[in-house]
Amino acid sequence: MMMNKIVMATNNANKLREVREILSPIGIEVISLAEAGICCDPDETGTSFHENSEIKADAVYNAYALKNHSNIEVIADDSGLCVDALGGRPGVYSARYATKGQECAKLLDEMKDVPDEQRTARFICDITYINVYGSDFHFEGVCEGSIGHEERGENGFGYDPVFMYGDRTMAEMTSEEKNKISHRAKALDGLYKFLKEG
Ligand code: IMP
Repeated sequence: MMMNKIVMATNNANKLREVREILSPIGIEVISLAEAGICCDPDETGTSFHENSEIKADAVYNAYALKNHSNIEVIADDSGLCVDALGGRPGVYSARYATKGQECAKLLDEMKDVPDEQRTARFICDITYINVYGSDFHFEGVCEGSIGHEERGENGFGYDPVFMYGDRTMAEMTSEEKNKISHRAKALDGLYKFLKEG
């Protein structure tokens, strides 16, 4: 089993939880920013998931090095929901689309006149991994689905209650089910294969 110890560059407790659920069974220990003793919240000024995840990972790698005079492996997740009928919005602005907790209601309202066959959407996740030598590697995962007509389910976070995967929303899945098919799980599978190859 691998024994990597990686800091995750996020202040989002749900992302941290999901990444831990996926990586700890395969021997990768994920440390929070608090556990690493770092405070870091850089502006996401990029125009793509790729750019924004790299901004977050680089900021933490550099903050850790400055504080500890040593280096540590880092991962960052930038992700979001791209809705075809909205020309790909909210996309990289998913976290800033609405007041927290109101994103599903706002999206359903914007989509109220969109017919079923035009409600296709996908979650996209870009994971940046930085090794101890400071080299960046990217892994992308995509999960195809559609936008439902109402909020359903209590699990997950963000847009999960309106994101249909088959005949259920992601919020109606257990975390074990979501972690088998999610954009995040697919991106992390790429990272796992990369680390395993050494
Ligand atoms: P960021 O990557 O910090 O810019 O934030 C991504 C935003 O996209 C989150 O705040 C959520 O609103 C949304 N998002 C990303 N992944 C998921 C997911 O797995 N389920 C539901 N919403 C998600």
